[in-house]
Amino acid sequence: MDNKLEIINEIDKIFEEAQKSLNSAKDLNELDISFRFFTGKKGRLTEIMHNIRLYSTEEKKIVGAKSNEVKNTIEFIYNARKNEFSGAEQKKFLNRYRVDLTIPGNYIERHHKHPITAVLEEASDFFSSMGFEIVEGPEIETTYYNFDALNIPADHPARDVWDTFYLLNGLVPRTHTSSVQVRTMEKKSPPFRVIAPGRCYRYEAVDATHLFMFNQMEGLFVDKNVRLTDLKGILEETVKNLLGARKTRFRPAFYPFVEPGLDLDIECVFCGGRGCGICKNTGWIEVIPCGMVHPNVFKYAGIDPQEYRGFAFGMGFDRIVMLKYSINDLRLLYHGNLDILNQF
Ligand code: PHE
Repeated sequence: MDNKLEIINEIDKIFEEAQKSLNSAKDLNELDISFRFFTGKKGRLTEIMHNIRLYSTEEKKIVGAKSNEVKNTIEFIYNARKNEFSGAEQKKFLNRYRVDLTIPGNYIERHHKHPITAVLEEASDFFSSMGFEIVEGPEIETTYYNFDALNIPADHPARDVWDTFYLLNGLVPRTHTSSVQVRTMEKKSPPFRVIAPGRCYRYEAVDATHLFMFNQMEGLFVDKNVRLTDLKGILEETVKNLLGARKTRFRPAFYPFVEPGLDLDIECVFCGGRGCGICKNTGWIEVIPCGMVHPNVFKYAGIDPQEYRGFAFGMGFDRIVMLKYSINDLRLLYHGNLDILNQF
């Protein structure tokens, strides 16, 4: 029985030590170490419980009950302190990464489409509604598609009008979207109607109405019985749709890839036709060069000019935007100045 008393005392001592150690732990780590020291695999209490088999049945009962009780109490203290630490740690974390839901967020301003994009989409919708398909061609072109196949041979004086930058490899940043006419005719068999919007480049002294990089929208309509009156009807409708009801006029013009060639003018939106600096005192502004596809262009593209006819046009698109919004300087559209762009 002495033996029993001794072991009971020993358990009491362990308990006292464990209690002290657990209560003085300064963080979760220290707490874990001390918990393992008493109750872990090789812990002091574990050792006693392990040796219990050496006692008599009666002793086993008493020592077993005592050590279980102590073990449970140690576990209880351990868990209580653990909660205390995790609570504190959580608080520390929350303090560090505090989210104040009452602070107003960063204001992200919503913008809108650039006027050129917006009008381009509007025009594309309009042409789609008349059965035109939207096609594209490369911005870097061969001289064949940009000039030769459009009836502008190398020695033709008309080539000067479009003379431009050349790349070292002989290719050319296209000077007009008319190059897409030939590419389309090669690919599609008539009848078809397409528009081809895109950027063009020219060797140009930049001023209020000229840029070295600009947008055009080409149109091409090929069928058996296309006539000049179809061209006039569709383009007048286009002007009405994009710019509102305006006085228009067609006048003869020369482009090697059309015959006859025309320019569609509208009454100057800046002076109402009285004459001003922008319309060079003519009262008219040229908006859509156009004409009936030249038989030579059909021949280059492999379409029989005896069987098919077509009309083509090439709107200076930036100019349409300029007229639509009465902007008196094209350069403003490309400066990226939000004070200006936000007005549209
Ligand atoms: N490509 C011509 C230009 O840039 C415009 C045009 C297109 C004229 C189609 C007639 C027909 O000036």
